[in-house]
Amino acid sequence: MKIAIPRERSAGETRVAATPEAVKKWVALGFEVVVEKGAGLAASFSDAAYKDAGATIAKDAAAALKSADVVLKVRAPLTEAEDAGGELSLFRPGTVLVAHLAALQNRAAIEAYAAAGITAFALELMPRISRAQSMDVLSSQSNLAGYKAVIDAAAEYGSAFPLMMTAAGTIAPAKVFVMGAGVAGLQAIATAKRLGAVVTGYDVRPVTKEQVESLGGKFVVVDAEMTKDAQTEGGYAKEMTEDYKKKEQQVIADHIAKQDVVITTALIPGKPAPRLVTEEMVKRMKPGSVIVDLAVETGGNCECAEPGKVVVKHGVKIVGHLNVPGRLPRDASSLFARNILNFLTPHVDKEKKEFAFKWDDETISGTLVTRDGKVVHPLLAQGS
Ligand code: NAI
Repeated sequence: MKIAIPRERSAGETRVAATPEAVKKWVALGFEVVVEKGAGLAASFSDAAYKDAGATIAKDAAAALKSADVVLKVRAPLTEAEDAGGELSLFRPGTVLVAHLAALQNRAAIEAYAAAGITAFALELMPRISRAQSMDVLSSQSNLAGYKAVIDAAAEYGSAFPLMMTAAGTIAPAKVFVMGAGVAGLQAIATAKRLGAVVTGYDVRPVTKEQVESLGGKFVVVDAEMTKDAQTEGGYAKEMTEDYKKKEQQVIADHIAKQDVVITTALIPGKPAPRLVTEEMVKRMKPGSVIVDLAVETGGNCECAEPGKVVVKHGVKIVGHLNVPGRLPRDASSLFARNILNFLTPHVDKEKKEFAFKWDDETISGTLVTRDGKVVHPLLAQGS
């Protein structure tokens, strides 16, 4: 059976779905692996490294996909509507596709995969169960994004993060406020703390208070009573009431005015990112302060953030980089590739050296979006 790793074609994508280390494992499992020329270059993996790992190098996407049974990708393949004569037209019917498809935001593309006869797995729909933690690309990539957000903030900030006592006088530590204490936010708190900042954190889910404190951050409480039911059974945040949002704005505005760096990571699955930092709040910050908005791709937590740009508004630098995990392409690709290995390896028939999917396995049924020419995922089929 042949596994293909094409070069990513989406603008600004630096990652790759298999590293040479992962290729070695696929080959050891008995698969033939073909990597498109240059697929790993942006992540510092050379064609020679893939060759050494046992892959063959295809000169272009058409050659890589021609006889592929399984295609591993970071991003969704571009459809005819997005790129005429492009990626999707190169897939054979019956090919298995595994990628972060952004399926719920990308229904037209999912319909196109079904029509093309592709069996597609959307990695972002991986159920959040303990067993699937090692397969969870949202976690592995958010973790790196949380780290990189702090490094980006430190690079833009005109002062130091730690307390420094020098012969010429003392430098006060930076005050860093992290909004949203999920996977990215907790890593941002840990990273800012390691750099010596005074860190506070905030989230609507009450369980995060203890997590923030265990990393050495102080938790900002808006209203303990109103956040009692803020978490879904799946562990995600719910959208809050208008009353809560008003109260949140007051408490947060006063806190933000005293901060040097604000890192926002708040998301609500399937909805636009909650607006947490208004222009009025930005106006009250000290000149030279920095905001990094990790939610900029889903509408932004900060009113002044612009996707893909670093802007200065009211003397505050607002960082809105896109694809933040892609700013650490080597590590992001390594973790992504291992997530895919962990997901698919239990479905390899080691004797026959081919995939034998257990269709009723929760990680399979939870991520399968198209099969036998149909869109099959309940979240897509219901039109929800
Ligand atoms: P996420 O990326 O959907 O959201 C980021 C954070 O923003 C969340 O903590 C959320 O509560 C917060 N948020 C939403 N609205 C907010 C608002 N108005 N103000 C402040 N904060 C707001 O969440 P993420 O990071 O993916 O994690 C969600 C949960 O899933 C966590 O409990 C995490 O521990 C859990 N998880 C479980 C996994 C597993 O068991 N396989 C894997 C990964 C995460």
